[in-house]
Amino acid sequence: MQMEAEDGVTDQGFPVDEIDTSRPHPARMYDYFLGGWDNYEVDREAAQRVLDVAPDVVLGARANREFLRRAVRYLVEECGVRQIIDIGTGIPTSPNTHEIAHEVSPDVRIAYIDNDPIVATHAGARLIGTGNTGFFLGDMREPRTILEHPTISELIDFDEPVALLLVSVLHFVTDEEDPAGMLATLREALPAGSYLVLSHATADFHAEVAPEVMEVYKKATASLTARSHAEVLALFDGYDLVEPGLVQVPLWHPEDGSELTPEELRRIGVYGGVARIR
Ligand SMILES: C[S@@+](CC[C@H](N)C(=O)[O-])C[C@H]1O[C@@H](n2cnc3c(N)ncnc32)[C@H](O)[C@@H]1O
Repeated sequence: MQMEAEDGVTDQGFPVDEIDTSRPHPARMYDYFLGGWDNYEVDREAAQRVLDVAPDVVLGARANREFLRRAVRYLVEECGVRQIIDIGTGIPTSPNTHEIAHEVSPDVRIAYIDNDPIVATHAGARLIGTGNTGFFLGDMREPRTILEHPTISELIDFDEPVALLLVSVLHFVTDEEDPAGMLATLREALPAGSYLVLSHATADFHAEVAPEVMEVYKKATASLTARSHAEVLALFDGYDLVEPGLVQVPLWHPEDGSELTPEELRRIGVYGGVARIR
């Protein structure tokens, strides 16, 4: 899957000088929250404005990464999943989905998709090249285009169970853009025995600061729609949640010794769940 890199062009054929540094990008803001270096001044300023009113965002981002790790491990180790579609990949942050999966079984195939060119600039070196992983620029809001992409045909066999990862991405899709419709299109393509891993930002625990946070994202390349527990639960339509259901991410299959106090838990504004197709 490794593609040729040329001067000034990303591995995915995207000209580096077309990367927009005039507006904050959610992927780069998230990278900043996680302590990464793949962000620009405009992202750091916006991220800092978020942190000024909602410092708990850092805890939520870290807890979300931990949820991703436990959920992928669970699917590969305990459910036998051997192929993963990870939409809204994010700027590579170790351990990435393929690293987690390959620790259990090196034969797992992973298709990464993100709509942010900055992710493409790093994908070649850090996400693809192991033979059974691929990345392409694609948009969650165009699920058919994703499903029909040649990288998907190359890596994913729709006769075998697939894990679809939508980890911290659907809050960048507004109600008007119809997330339920996108999920239905993706679900219809998945065979029996497939899984959905979904996590999502919520304002349920930070109602007083949520409007200010959402205001910052209005100036970014994608706005933020925090959703309530009931709203996120509705996104699992057509799936059966595995235990313990849709919960704040630290409560999903916690590892021994990782339990949070009620006060710490109250600071985590991210729900997550894993579900099997009905
Ligand atoms: C908060 S990061 C999550 C990264 C990773 N999934 C994780 O949970 O650690 C959200 C990612 O979704 C991507 N994204 C936002 N809207 C998207 C869309 N409509 N289609 C595809 N990717 C999108 C952003 O570019 C960003 O990389």
